[in-house]
Amino acid sequence: MKTSRLAIVGFGNVGQGLLQIIVDRSAQLAGQFGVEFKVVAVNDMRLGSVYHSQGLDHAALLNAAAAGDLAQMPAEQYGWSVQEMLSKADFDTLVEVSFTDLRTGEPALSYIRQALSAGKHAVTTNKGPIALDFHGLQALAQARHVQIGYEGTVMSGTPTLALGRKLLAAAGIQRVQGILNGTTNFILTRMETGESYAQALAGAQALGYAEADPTGDVEGFDTAGKVVILCSLLMGTKLTMSDVDRHGITSLTVNDIRSAQVEGKRWKLIGALERIDGKVSASVRPMLLPMQHPLASVGGPTNAITFTTELLGDVTLVGPGAGRRETGYALLTDLLAIHSAQA
Ligand code: HSE
Repeated sequence: MKTSRLAIVGFGNVGQGLLQIIVDRSAQLAGQFGVEFKVVAVNDMRLGSVYHSQGLDHAALLNAAAAGDLAQMPAEQYGWSVQEMLSKADFDTLVEVSFTDLRTGEPALSYIRQALSAGKHAVTTNKGPIALDFHGLQALAQARHVQIGYEGTVMSGTPTLALGRKLLAAAGIQRVQGILNGTTNFILTRMETGESYAQALAGAQALGYAEADPTGDVEGFDTAGKVVILCSLLMGTKLTMSDVDRHGITSLTVNDIRSAQVEGKRWKLIGALERIDGKVSASVRPMLLPMQHPLASVGGPTNAITFTTELLGDVTLVGPGAGRRETGYALLTDLLAIHSAQA
């Protein structure tokens, strides 16, 4: 049995979702994969910071997070900054799940760089650092002989990047089109049932799909970040956010949605990348899809992606794109991949 020592930065829904899976499935993880995950350090802007060299009590950690304060946890060290934690704690893998900033990637980008530079693995669901500097982080990880995992940055635990990067890599991916944002798909689906845009957005916020500032969702920035990540990972092309021709859903009216229904079509916010004559173009825009299109029937917060390949034609993957357990699962798959590579 191997023990993996985790330091978690950001202990909101996603970090807690991962820990809940680790608690619930510890016997399965030990039996099936021969690994025990031990959280030794947690730092959260709101909840505080704790470290225990022997490992923190996982159940107590979840309870303390629910109560809103980690200071009540038994620990050896309280109040370390993230930088202190990353330099002083005895851990092997950083779980970086602090808030996302798609403009600068910070502070997450610096945390991940610090951990990789110190020879620690890093896993993240944070879109900012991967959209802005995937190639730099990958080079740093390689130089330090460690790994970086980022599966949850696109479609949460639905294994989109693993499928595209590994199993479809030799099939010749020419085009990718996806419903990559749960909030906007939820809003469009609700508007089809007669809800107003404002009511539907409030519903998405109440259910926790929307980003803290929903502008990122409804104006297409979140989808654009995912498109940039897909370009880097699947096409090997470095794009910036401003290279993506981006449009959100705020210009769509209830009337547009109704007229589409009358025509037997549906509006979907589609993130797309396509290789044409060796150049990759990327866009995010509402598209009017006929019902027979593989993405037209995907409703609510569900995400979906169609890979158009030379050898297989279209391959479509449908699954959750957000959520506490779903995104926590993405981190688990990254952690298990790191564990298998070490075994
Ligand atoms: N706000 C995002 C969404 C969360 O609605 O899909 C997952 O990236």
